[in-house]
Amino acid sequence: MTDIKLPKGTKDLFPKEIEKWHFLEDKIKEFYSRFMYQEVRTPIFEHSELFSRGIGSETEVVSKEMYTFEDKAKRSLTLRPENTASLVRAAIEHNFIEEIYPLRFYYIGPMFRYDKPQKGRYRQFHQFGVEILADDSAQADAELIFSANKFLDEIGIKGLKLLINSVGCKKCRPAYLKALRKVAKKAELCNDCKGKAEKNPLRIFDCKQQNCKKSTEKFPRMLDSLCEECTTHFDLVKETLDGFGIKYTIDTTLVRGLDYYTKTAFEIVSEELGAQDALLGGGRYDGLFKELGGPDIAAVGFAAGMERIILNLSDYHKPKIKKTIIIYQQPQFIKEAIKIAQKFWENGYGAFVEYSQKKMKKQFQRANKLGADFAVILGEDEVKNNHLTIKDMKSREQKTIQTRDLQKWQKEYL
Ligand code: HAM
Repeated sequence: MTDIKLPKGTKDLFPKEIEKWHFLEDKIKEFYSRFMYQEVRTPIFEHSELFSRGIGSETEVVSKEMYTFEDKAKRSLTLRPENTASLVRAAIEHNFIEEIYPLRFYYIGPMFRYDKPQKGRYRQFHQFGVEILADDSAQADAELIFSANKFLDEIGIKGLKLLINSVGCKKCRPAYLKALRKVAKKAELCNDCKGKAEKNPLRIFDCKQQNCKKSTEKFPRMLDSLCEECTTHFDLVKETLDGFGIKYTIDTTLVRGLDYYTKTAFEIVSEELGAQDALLGGGRYDGLFKELGGPDIAAVGFAAGMERIILNLSDYHKPKIKKTIIIYQQPQFIKEAIKIAQKFWENGYGAFVEYSQKKMKKQFQRANKLGADFAVILGEDEVKNNHLTIKDMKSREQKTIQTRDLQKWQKEYL
């Protein structure tokens, strides 16, 4: 009788390595509660159609990598290759939009792709992902990217590079794809990419073959064909990232492997990982809710490969989080509000800015719903005089401090 071995592309985890998993999972929960995310868990298998419709039937993930099987009632089911489509399905099915606030979720769990195993690439791997639903603001994209970068930085991962791009929207992408197809059909490409030239020309940018890489150098780029709305959005993402003070590289070849993306796309790669260098990737997916039969809702998110993070892991700490909401009196004070929130997140404290509700009364209602401990209020006088009014949401006491004394206040009260 032959021995039964581990299936190819899977891993057994033993206590020493599990310590790192526990640390990483605890850190995800602690870190993302600072940004007011809540956990969701969806099933490990779903109806296959969810992924073919959600991710796109022409993608490698759907056409080549899915673990699909029929159950006893002849339903086609698939082990989830990713969690975004499942989260959107659950949000539509259980009416998250009306029921849960804030609409920010994270998940942690195994995903399955019939991929060629190598270092950092497995058939059963784990992702943690975060998603912001019902927020179409560029600030949400930038905050999400900032959080991803800060997360990896806080757990001590070195040699990080943040790549960003815009992949356009349903208004500007069709004309670009038409132009791309025309060029791709005439270009020198490997057989695989020749097949993609008509059906999915964007995927040619992902090919690792030297000849294809060389050919794509001359291909037109989505970034040069964006409509006004996508251009304005991307400019504001960059401006907000600049405000956060994080470095990024614009990579016009970054197209992502899943079809649901619109506007912002990004990845964080590690220079130490070799071929499988993407620690995390994500972007905006404003059309996915509608594609899956739901309302027209904008969303943005990312997912990180936990095995890849663990391969690079070194350091940690675990602070306890109190909730503070930053409230701005006038819409134009949103920039100041983000700056103040950044001083919380970077100093290790929890804060939340309501980007989609610009009325102060609404923001206070949201603060109550969130169970905030404190509200930092930015009114006209505060912004003009570099002051902050801080309200204790439990005792209702209010006091005004100088902005430069914020850290002193944080140390005393948080
Ligand atoms: P993805 O780029 O396909 O995006 O996967 C995200 C991350 O999962 C990758 O950057 C990588 O770290 C990890 N990963 C992917 N495949 C494997 C594998 N075979 N072995 C090990 N790690 C792997 C998504 O899955 C999207 N759902 C991300 C997203 C969320 N976009 C918006 N919201």
